[in-house]
Amino acid sequence: MVVSAITSPANTASIAFHRAMGFEVRGPVPDYDGPGLDRIVFERGLWTRLETDRLVLREFVADDEAAVHEYASDPEVTRLASWGPNTIEQTREFLAQITQPHGRVGFAITLHSTGKLVGSIGIGSCSDEHRRGELGYVINRAHWSRGYATEATRRIVQFRI
Ligand SMILES: CC(C)(COP(=O)(O)OP(=O)(O)OC[C@H]1O[C@@H](n2cnc3c(N)ncnc32)[C@H](O)[C@@H]1OP(=O)(O)O)[C@@H](O)C(=O)NCCC(=O)NCCS
Repeated sequence: MVVSAITSPANTASIAFHRAMGFEVRGPVPDYDGPGLDRIVFERGLWTRLETDRLVLREFVADDEAAVHEYASDPEVTRLASWGPNTIEQTREFLAQITQPHGRVGFAITLHSTGKLVGSIGIGSCSDEHRRGELGYVINRAHWSRGYATEATRRIVQFRI
C-alpha cells in the first residue's frame, strides 16, 4: 500500500515535513494541477504497523500464504462471504493483489504474543466522492469470540485511513 501527497514546489515547509515523515519525492511534476501548476508528488508506504493490546495489524507478505489459506479455505468461515472457500490458487491471487504497492487497503491481523496471523481487516468499495468505504474482516475460526475483530476494528476506525 502506498499513500501519496502533493504540494506546490514553493511550499518549502510542506516539502520538509513530508521528507521528515519518510516520503519519497516524485517530481516536480509539470502541470500536475493544470497549466503552469507544477506540483511535487510524495509517496510512501502506508504506516504498516498498527498495534492494540493484543494485536499487531501489519501488511501482508507473500510468506503469509499458509496462515491465510488456513481460514480462507474454511467453508464455515466463508459461508456468508462473497468469496471462498479458497483454492490455494485463489489465496495466492489474493496475496498477489494485496501486496501490490497500490493494492487494496488490507491488514493482516496477527497476535502480539505469538506472531500468529489470525485474520484480516480491510477497507474496500471506497468512494472518494461520498467519502465512504466498506470495512471487511475475517478471523480464523480457531480464534473466534475472543474479541479480536472488535479490537482490530476499533484501531482501524481510530486510524481513519
Ligand atoms: C465476524 C467475525 C469476523 C467476528 O470475529 P471475532 O473476532 O470472533 O469477533 P469478536 O470476538 O470481536 O466478537 C464481536 C461480537 O460479535 C458477536 N459474535 C461474534 N461471534 C459470534 C458468534 N459465533 N455468534 C454470535 N455472535 C457472535 C458478538 O456479539 C460479539 O460480541 P461479544 O463477544 O461481546 O458477545 C468472525 O466470526 C468471522 O470471521 N466470520 C466469518 C467471516 C465474516 O462473516 N466476516 C464479516 C463480514 S465482512
